[in-house]
Amino acid sequence: MKIKISLFALAFIFSSAFVSEDLVTMQPSNDIDAEKLYKSNCRLCHGAKGGLGINGATDLRKSTLKKSEIADVIANGRGVMTPFKDILDEEQIKALSKFVLKLQK
Ligand code: HEC
Repeated sequence: MKIKISLFALAFIFSSAFVSEDLVTMQPSNDIDAEKLYKSNCRLCHGAKGGLGINGATDLRKSTLKKSEIADVIANGRGVMTPFKDILDEEQIKALSKFVLKLQK
């Protein structure tokens, strides 16, 4: 009898662990971490603050592009800059465009 109870307790612990993991992975898409995306995809050429300029990368702080134009450059690339439309989805590109706008100042 004792064994049965502990097995049940174990099963309960496991199932609650799975439930909480589900809650973590099922984040709504508006929770995209644009800063993290920028660090892993853009920092290499543009630098943490946008002004590194590797390979002639535009200083993003001096960019005068609008959000839709930024999204276009990210999706389709320009010159040396690689297109990201096959790497990032639309929501991620939108979030990044917003992030780049915030670098401008
Ligand atoms: C391989 C290096 C490289 C990477 C990685 C890269 N870029 Fe670029 N980016 C460039 C270069 C070079 C240009 C200038 C292109 C040209 O006009 O010839 C540029 C231009 C831009 C522009 C246009 C700015 C303006 O005012 O004209 C934006 C916006 C931009 N990049 C954003 C991003 C974002 C966001 C990412 C990450 C998703 C990214 N870039 C990743 C090299 C890169």
